[in-house]
Formats: sequence, structure tokens, C-alpha cells
Amino acid sequence: MILLGHSDGGVAVVMDLASELLGINQYDIVKNVDRPDCVISSRYSASHFFEKEYMFSQNLILPVQFGVHHSNVKYLLYHFFRKTHGIGNTRYADIIHSSTTYFGPSSVHAGGILIEPMALVSSMCQIGFGVTIKRSASVGHHAVLGDFVNINPGAVLSGFVNIGMGTEIGTGVTISNNVSVGKRCLIGAGSVVTRDIPDGVIAYGNPCKVIRENERWNGVVLEPDFSLG
Ligand SMILES: CC(C)(COP(=O)(O)OP(=O)(O)OC[C@H]1O[C@@H](n2cnc3c(N)ncnc32)[C@H](O)[C@@H]1OP(=O)(O)O)[C@@H](O)C(=O)NCCC(=O)NCCS
Repeated sequence: MILLGHSDGGVAVVMDLASELLGINQYDIVKNVDRPDCVISSRYSASHFFEKEYMFSQNLILPVQFGVHHSNVKYLLYHFFRKTHGIGNTRYADIIHSSTTYFGPSSVHAGGILIEPMALVSSMCQIGFGVTIKRSASVGHHAVLGDFVNINPGAVLSGFVNIGMGTEIGTGVTISNNVSVGKRCLIGAGSVVTRDIPDGVIAYGNPCKVIRENERWNGVVLEPDFSLG
């Protein structure tokens, strides 16, 4: 498997899950350009490459996943490798921890998703491309999660919650039913979100309030949303 980008936590989790679920024990890691000095320690076999040196053409059969899970980084990596190497959404593997995750049979997803152990996706959900749902997070019925969303550990989304493309929900956040969080937001850890949150902001607290613009997306060229319209 080819992992695009690299964070110590991100690659460790993907490797463990892909090994268990897909039987993959060898990885090429195409490092994130702004993290060239990352050191990896893993029991799996890994080769390290900078993106410019990596020959994707020799690896057309290998599936791809993200090696880092911040929404803005996934977004940049996806569009970078799509443009430079023609790696589209169909190349990405789904990694869903089937032994402990409930994924509602009436829910759908767009591919390239990673769902860690003990997480839950209830009924009638729409999960966008490249979404990460981390350990013990719970996504309520009729949720819509846009592309590249990252739901951090233990977050609880009630029913009919809508999370916009590229938004990151912090560890342990609680979101009330029918609440919409905009695109490219970051909701701080432990927040209780009871009202809609607009696009492009950092918000946190109980009750959750907008603090400022989400500078993590500054300078990012926005492409058309593709999987959920
Ligand atoms: C929101 C966040 C990005 C920080 O935002 P920030 O504005 O840069 O925050 P700072 O660290 O400068 O703190 C500013 C103030 O806000 C408070 N604050 C920061 N995050 C907060 C949060 N989630 N809830 C409540 N208050 C928070 C700080 O305590 C500080 O208060 P003070 O001025 O009284 O000392 C960060 O705290 C956060 O929650 N990130 C998500 C972490 C996460 O879930 N990671 C997942 C890992 S798997």
C-alpha cells in the first residue's frame, strides 16, 4: 500500500488496520513535503520517498491511503497527487475496522475512508470521500459528513448533523441534533456544539463559539466538491 503523507500517529494506525483487515504488511510512504524529517518506528516494512522521487507509474496496482489525517492536509495531498500523478478517488482503499465498528447498512460512503476500532456510524448516513472517523467516535443517524472530514476520538454526533467538507471535529466534541457545521472548520476538543457554525472558522467551548478564522486553510486553492455535491 502507498501512504500519502506522514504523521507518526497516522501511519501507525493505517498500518495496523490495513495489516489486520487487508493483510498488507509492506508500505511505501510518500512523505508530506513539509514533514521531511519524520522518523517512523513500525513493525511493518516501509520505504520512504520524497514525492518527487517516487515512481507511481511502477505501482499502478497498489492501493493508496492517507498517512496523515488532518482535513486540510488530506485535501492538499489528494489534489496534489491527483494533478501530478493522476491518482483519483478510486485508487484509495477503504479501511473500516469491521470487528468492532458498526456501519449502518442503510448508510453510504464515497470511498477512501478510514474508520478506527470502536467507532460507530448509525443509519442513513452519507460519508464523503477520504473521511476519517477515529476510535470511539459516534456518528448519529442521517449525518452527512463532507469529503476529507476528520472526526477525532470520542466525538459524539447526534442525529441529522451535517459536517461540511474539510472540517475537523476535535477529540470528545459533542454536537446536538440538527446542527450544521460549515466547511473547513476546526471545532476545538471537548466543545459542545448546540448551534450552527459557519464556514472557515475555529470554534470551541461550551457552548461552542466562533473564535476566529481557521488559518489552516489560508492559501489553499479550493477545488469543486466532488462526492457529495
Ligand atoms: C482549538 C485549538 C485548535 C486551539 O485553538 P487556539 O485558539 O490556538 O488555542 P490556544 O492554545 O491559543 O488557547 C487560547 C485559549 O483558548 C482556550 N482553549 C483552547 N482550546 C480550547 C478548547 N478546545 N475548549 C475550550 N477552551 C480552549 C485555552 O485554554 C486558552 O485559554 P486562556 O487564554 O484562558 O489561557 C485546540 O485547543 C484544539 O482543541 N485542537 C483540537 C485538538 C484535537 O482534538 N486533536 C485531535 C488529536 S487525535
